[in-house]
Amino acid sequence: MKDNTNLRNFIGSLPKAELHIHIEGSLEPDLMLKLSEKNHVNLKYSTIDEVKKAYEFENLQSFLDIYYEGASVLLKEEDFFDLAMAYFDKCARQNVKHIELFFDPQTHTDRGIKFDIVLNGLWNACENAKQRWGLSSKLIMCFLRHLSAENAHETLKQALPYKNKIIAVGLDSSEVGHPPSKFKTVFDEARRQGFLTVAHAGEEGPPEYIWDALDNLKVSRIDHGVRCLEDARLVAELQKKQVPLTVCPLSNVKLRVFKSMKDHCLKKLLRANLLATINSDDPAYFGGYLNENYLAAAEALDLSHEDLINLARNSFIASFLTKEEKTKYLKQIDSVN
Ligand code: HPA
Ligand code: ZN
Repeated sequence: MKDNTNLRNFIGSLPKAELHIHIEGSLEPDLMLKLSEKNHVNLKYSTIDEVKKAYEFENLQSFLDIYYEGASVLLKEEDFFDLAMAYFDKCARQNVKHIELFFDPQTHTDRGIKFDIVLNGLWNACENAKQRWGLSSKLIMCFLRHLSAENAHETLKQALPYKNKIIAVGLDSSEVGHPPSKFKTVFDEARRQGFLTVAHAGEEGPPEYIWDALDNLKVSRIDHGVRCLEDARLVAELQKKQVPLTVCPLSNVKLRVFKSMKDHCLKKLLRANLLATINSDDPAYFGGYLNENYLAAAEALDLSHEDLINLARNSFIASFLTKEEKTKYLKQIDSVN
């Protein structure tokens, strides 16, 4: 095996932002088992090995079934706090400076957990991470697209008292069969209420779903978006408008969007001058946090230092930070040699 210490150190030295992380997807098996015991929630598994053995996925749905089961151990405000703090601790160690994290309220409210339990636990963790590690973070509330638009409307209503604590709304869960337009009216209302919008599109779903998210949901970013390359007119549009794509390399291989990392289209996206970023998606399930994603992509696709610097720069450019904050972080990247 080639020694990759230098590459690893270089990636570690780059200040980075993470823009596509489902906080429920950062639930590591040891915390999952600890919480299942503490909260008396029965899981199919009783050891870490058993949990990890279940992490062989055939597609997005086979992952989601296990991901929702894992999330069932989260009951109390302190559970959401501990979950997010464990993730922020990883960020601090990996030189991740800014995080825009997804949470799925319906995964919890459908089990009888109150919206404010979820929101307060996560918000307190964001505040704590700022104090403890100087991390900057923002919350993005996702609607589950396999549920109805009415259910999403209800969730938006619950979020309104907290709208100053949530920067944007997003769309996740089972993509195929649930096009973005299904949620047009709730996204219209969310924008009226001052939320920015993002959406998962073009992960398993076709390029038409990316058009749909741009045209009907007026999104600021596309989450995943890797299938855009099937539509030249779409690539030109994404390039012209510099619409960010939050790409998740390890996730895409684990969920068999690409056969192997060598087949991943990230380098093609960069060469097409698209604003691509690297992210971890569900790091506890897909085998790595942000730096592991950079490393796996860099090794398999032979990315240069310049590519990696561009990806780190893109992560701040694509963020919802202010112009001044972006400038501060971009200067930090410029001082890495
Ligand atoms: N895609 C869609 N929904 C999700 C994902 C994903 O990768 N991770 C968690 N929810
Ligand atoms: Zn995702």
